[in-house]
Amino acid sequence: MSIRFAERNKRLGTETAFAVGAEAAQFSLTGARVYPFHLGDLNIPTPEHIVEAAIRAIREGKTGYCPTPGILPLREALAEDISRSRDLNLDAGNVSIQTGGKPVIGKFIMTLMNPGDEVLYPNPGYPIYESMINFHEGVGKPYGFRETEKGFALDLDAIERQISPKTKLLIYNNYHNPTSAESDEEEMKRLADICLKHNLYVLSDEAYFDMLYDSKGMSISRFPGLFERTVILFTFSKKFAMTGWRLGAAIGPKEIIDAISLFNVNDESCTNHFVQWAGLAAIKGPMEPYREMLKTLKERRDTSVEILNQMKGISVGKPNSTFYLFANITAAMKDLGMQDVEDFRKQVLYKTGVSFTTRNHFGTPLPGEKQKYIRLAYSGINTSDIREGLGKMKELLG
Ligand SMILES: Cc1ncc(COP(=O)(O)O)c(C=O)c1O
Repeated sequence: MSIRFAERNKRLGTETAFAVGAEAAQFSLTGARVYPFHLGDLNIPTPEHIVEAAIRAIREGKTGYCPTPGILPLREALAEDISRSRDLNLDAGNVSIQTGGKPVIGKFIMTLMNPGDEVLYPNPGYPIYESMINFHEGVGKPYGFRETEKGFALDLDAIERQISPKTKLLIYNNYHNPTSAESDEEEMKRLADICLKHNLYVLSDEAYFDMLYDSKGMSISRFPGLFERTVILFTFSKKFAMTGWRLGAAIGPKEIIDAISLFNVNDESCTNHFVQWAGLAAIKGPMEPYREMLKTLKERRDTSVEILNQMKGISVGKPNSTFYLFANITAAMKDLGMQDVEDFRKQVLYKTGVSFTTRNHFGTPLPGEKQKYIRLAYSGINTSDIREGLGKMKELLG
């Protein structure tokens, strides 16, 4: 019997990076050595004091339901922490705890987008934006990035050019996955002005706000008139090495946050109770493990960038944020006579074991895009393995 699925299921996308991980795992079953650069996960454990806080919370019986928008001490602590880091003035009413940062994307869209509304979103970008826009019958308006000497920059012209009376939302992922693009104050201010001028609501995906090596993060919500129209996606996943714990938050104007929390009632009732106490320990606890992690990641970044730039036909900048490298492989592909980045990915995987994703895992390439890119995540691989794996790739490419 064939299942008569709901029509809307056809509009749901996925994260194809997970498929690359599965392919690499399959390859390793043949006895091959795999060097994992494909997934933005961390091979660094959650700090001990956070683990202890979770165990303590379970032992203390924090195992029942808790309030839908989250436990008050965590909402208060986050309001205080985000106020400080983003230059805002928040209280617990501005915070709705979520099971990770990802649910904020769909809930923001469901709360504010009607079918037929247009949504500007980054492409290349985190694939869940496109999936959720399509699923809820919005009209996606992708915008790209320009490769400059200082790294990738927003294509503000592409953003403004596409705005029509139907455009209602903008998704902005500063400290961007996959390009690591980072707006300077001027660029962010220009974007803020565009949002004000065209009355757009903003999802500020700040998943990598704290993954910065040489500067402090800046949020678009701090510009005058922006907080009232912005929802910040906050996550514990990266800063505290808690990807599998599933803890994050939607942060924004109280009215929108209450509307988002209504989805919590309907979906998960509440985020895991004891995990929230661990989150509180993360926010209030020592920041030494976080600083150590950044140091480790910086070393991995520097090693990866150095070796990649020694490869024939590959060039990559040294980004200040995230743990991704978006390397330009246009010349290498030309040398190899290849058209499709997927052929390049497979050849490198099966000849060297180095596993990464490509530009095509981050949305459908835009018309006129000529440059070819791969994305390497250095969050899940140690420096010595980076040297060994990328060394093999360098040998392959010459
Ligand atoms: C840009 C971006 N936004 C959101 C998320 C979701 O993070 P979380 O693991 O907290 O759901 C990710 C995860 O990799 C991401 O890269």
